[in-house]
Amino acid sequence: MQYKNILVTGGAGFIGSNFIRFMLGKYSEIKIVNLDALTYAGNLENLKDLEENVNYKFVHGDICDEKLVNETIRNNPIDLIVNFAAESHVDRSVIDSSSFIQTNVVGIRVLLDAALENGKIRFHHISTDEVFGHLKADEQPFDELTPYNPRSPYSASKAASDHLARAYFYTHKLPITISNCSNNYGPYQFPEKLIPLVTTNLAENKKVPIYGTGENIRDWIHVDDHNRGVEMIIEKGIIGETYCLGGDTEKTNLEIIEKILEIMGKKKDQIEYIEDRKGHDLRYAIDFSKAKSELGWEPQIAFEKGLKETIEWYKNNPDWWQKIKSGEYQEYYKKQYGE
Ligand code: NAD
Ligand code: DAU
Repeated sequence: MQYKNILVTGGAGFIGSNFIRFMLGKYSEIKIVNLDALTYAGNLENLKDLEENVNYKFVHGDICDEKLVNETIRNNPIDLIVNFAAESHVDRSVIDSSSFIQTNVVGIRVLLDAALENGKIRFHHISTDEVFGHLKADEQPFDELTPYNPRSPYSASKAASDHLARAYFYTHKLPITISNCSNNYGPYQFPEKLIPLVTTNLAENKKVPIYGTGENIRDWIHVDDHNRGVEMIIEKGIIGETYCLGGDTEKTNLEIIEKILEIMGKKKDQIEYIEDRKGHDLRYAIDFSKAKSELGWEPQIAFEKGLKETIEWYKNNPDWWQKIKSGEYQEYYKKQYGE
């Protein structure tokens, strides 16, 4: 790995914590500083196994805090920033979009300026396929040339963040790259998202809520495949470029839920159809041929296998998600750090 001191923002969340574990497991010569505000979605238990690792350091703080961001970069000294920090849940953005604008737009501005002012630090921004809007059943998948057309406050804030990152490249020659990835699944995903919500509800013998008709389609990718793609972009990606990453696994929500019911040996009467999400995007799909031809990346984890292993992980780690569902997980930081 050409970078030795990496600042990961939002590393206490789902994808960021998996990224830190993956990178420290693979590279013994790198150091990672994890800057995370520990919002409701941040959970230090996601990184419990790395607490004693001398190459890992946690800094509690907000990416909007200019002073802290600059100090963290200078004290470590950072040569790569990977920005995972975000408000990430669409339903929450429908109820109140203020924190989405604050973190996803104001926050990345602070990070980009700090990268610029500290010697044009290499910057990779983690984004989403939702910036492209949604597709009809017969439309071609999104690729890097698809025009932006975000339809939720969440995806609009992510679109703004992508535009800002690219603007710093064009205006200031800041060495950025962006990845736009489809729906991730895997261990440590907060149980407000479809797959962990359904899995943990079924483990508790509760009903599983399905929005509208259940016909909406998502393209599912294992979090490890996503993070391997991020690693390859960092190593081999062309500065200023965007890469679309997808799982090549389009499924309706009903198909996903029925598959989980089957794996867990549960009956279809546990499904509960509820009111649809406002502005519910119909379909996402990704054409990742650019990442395949330029980086040699493609997803490697077959969905059925990845899903079975993920369900197994939630079954084997009830402590992790039960503490989240009860709210107890937020006490962990206080116990650990005495604050
Ligand atoms: P998550 O909600 O699980 O984690 C977000 C993390 O960011 C949390 O640890 C939280 O404490 C931290 N955070 C939030 N606001 C912060 C702030 N102001 N300062 C510092 N830290 C802050 O999210 P996730 O699912 O892991 O997603 C990570 C990134 O990947 C996001 O940028 C998201 O938009 C993007 N993404 C997610 C998916 C997906 O399927 N989950 C797919 C594509 C892209
Ligand atoms: O496409 C990438 C995006 O995937 C990321 O940018 C977001 O951060 C991530 O949250 C995810 O967004 P979605 O809205 O697609 O994910 P979610 O898990 O919330 O919902 C997946 C689908 O399942 C969606 O069509 C809504 C539906 N759903 C969701 C929940 C939580 C249900 O039917 N019932 C539910 O209870």
